[in-house]
Amino acid sequence: MSLVIDYKNVLGFINESDIEALSESACTANKLLHSKKGLGRDFLGWVSLPEDVLEETSRIKKVASEIRENAEVLVVIGIGGSYLGARAVIESFSQAFEVPKKGSPQVIYAGHNMSGAYHKELIEYLNDKDFYINVISKSGTTTEPAIAFRLLKEYAESRYGETTNNRIIATTDKKQGALNTLAKENNYRTFIIPDNVGGRFSLFSAVGLLPIACAGIDIIALLNGALQMAKETESEFYDKNPAMLYAIIRNALYNKGFTNEIMVNYIPRMSYISEWWKQLYGESEGKENKGIFPASVNFSTDLHSLGQYIQEGHRNIFETVINVDKENKDIVMKVSSSDLDGLNYLSGMNMHDINKSALKATVLAHVDGGTPNIIIDVDKICESTIGEMIYFFEKACGISGYMLGVNPFDQPGVEAYKNNMFAILGKKGYEKLSKELESRL
Ligand code: PA5
Repeated sequence: MSLVIDYKNVLGFINESDIEALSESACTANKLLHSKKGLGRDFLGWVSLPEDVLEETSRIKKVASEIRENAEVLVVIGIGGSYLGARAVIESFSQAFEVPKKGSPQVIYAGHNMSGAYHKELIEYLNDKDFYINVISKSGTTTEPAIAFRLLKEYAESRYGETTNNRIIATTDKKQGALNTLAKENNYRTFIIPDNVGGRFSLFSAVGLLPIACAGIDIIALLNGALQMAKETESEFYDKNPAMLYAIIRNALYNKGFTNEIMVNYIPRMSYISEWWKQLYGESEGKENKGIFPASVNFSTDLHSLGQYIQEGHRNIFETVINVDKENKDIVMKVSSSDLDGLNYLSGMNMHDINKSALKATVLAHVDGGTPNIIIDVDKICESTIGEMIYFFEKACGISGYMLGVNPFDQPGVEAYKNNMFAILGKKGYEKLSKELESRL
């Protein structure tokens, strides 16, 4: 197992008996995910997705290699679960300073915000580059990606004329939605998002795998890591099942008033793992006036901003720290003859070891300040460990949501802003709400 949960730093805040007390509820939750008898049972396709998707991987790889050959840039259009998973994995493997080129296209994102400046600059950026578009929307009706797609499709047509449609891949529902209609009408190549897989649990479908493969990441190794974790998390014993253990600890802390969880990461290129995780847990658990609020920090950067609050602010926070043992690249501190900066005591050390010392020091300081710390030890960043980690968080989220007593697979609260926005923008059918909102604007 390359992912291990170290929970010694929560034991001053909860004890082993609190953990034991929740083991039955976690076990029941895990069984419900497998028997498909719990809330949201129609959206449990993700549990076996890493295996079920295997037959589709050769087509995904084929399309990806065509894109790699012909594009300097792949624009992924999507929002929420339709882009965060791909971005989390791709950025975990990307270089900090990369120049896009054919054979190894840069993956960039659109339709995850409604900034006119962002999308205008994106089109300007594409001006001298060959690109493909992967537009992803399960419902096929989400406003943000729909707007971005209309803009980028128009731009692509101005660049590629009749051959534009070969450069657009749509990933969507098999029957419904405007995107499905557009794809059929224009003969786009399509990938289907299974009916029983919700957006934020769709990373191991073509939603995540096509962009990930385009970035040159080995999707089979990624899926093998997920499969390994799927096997491990079948166990009904929390000491053998890391997803159960994590779900139990966070619920035990929540029951003691620790209502905010911060995902802590020390490796900049992994920051989108936290963004993906926030969406997964926020949309799955935050309902019926319940749920742990998921936040994230990048240390040591944020030790110089949010560190103060975590150390001494309102005591309702716990942290989950990703501790990566070995970095893929590193740099050694050399001796300086003058030592004017006083850093010679670090000479001979790898920078990652200094980073890990910061991690150890911070865990101890925050625990002393009253912030419990769960540490997730990961051996290294590779396809297999990232696949394991993603599946681990998905499984723990399902278990944790059931333990909390909510349906982790719906997101009814997301509709409220959309309805108001449609009313404000004057969309047909929203006239009554528009009138109601008028006096409040
Ligand atoms: O997890 C979810 O279901 C959501 O975050 C969706 O992924 C997001 O709202 C985008 O929806 P769609 O793929 O239908 O455009």
